[in-house]
Amino acid sequence: MKILLMSIIAYSLLSLNVYSKNVWEGVYTDAQAIKGKQSYLEYCSECHGSELEGIAEAPSLRQGAFIYNWDGLPINILFQRIRETMPMDDPRGVSRKLKADILAYIMKENNFPSGNIPLPYQNSRLKSIQWNALSK
Ligand code: HEC
Repeated sequence: MKILLMSIIAYSLLSLNVYSKNVWEGVYTDAQAIKGKQSYLEYCSECHGSELEGIAEAPSLRQGAFIYNWDGLPINILFQRIRETMPMDDPRGVSRKLKADILAYIMKENNFPSGNIPLPYQNSRLKSIQWNALSK
């Protein structure tokens, strides 16, 4: 009985997604966003625009539809999307570390505040950060 109870508790703890932070609490650094801007201009801007405004098929990565697409989700989902599918013409051509920097830059451009710890690139750590379109 005790073992059964303990496994039920363990299972419910595992299935809960426990967020340690959300994107309004400073989850990247300014230095990282500056590096990310260079990589963004190198690998992303030809399609998404130098102001993240979107060009033709490539959507804007600024405000509106973009920030709401990922609302309420752990940020690893957005990171995974970038990791597996972007840049569209060569998703494997850009490292995870550079992609974390690029995401930091995109966050800065969307007015999420910076903090003291760089945005991680490991799935296990990104999972605990929640993307919220609005601060409250
Ligand atoms: C060759 C053109 C091209 C390049 C280069 C490119 N993208 Fe994209 N991206 C697209 C297109 C087209 C879409 C929409 C179609 C789709 O969803 O796959 C898209 C969609 C996205 C989305 C989903 C947007 C949303 O509203 O949810 C993200 C995020 C994204 N791109 C990030 C990036 C990043 C970061 C880079 C650079 C590392 C990049 N893209 C480089 C063409 C490109």
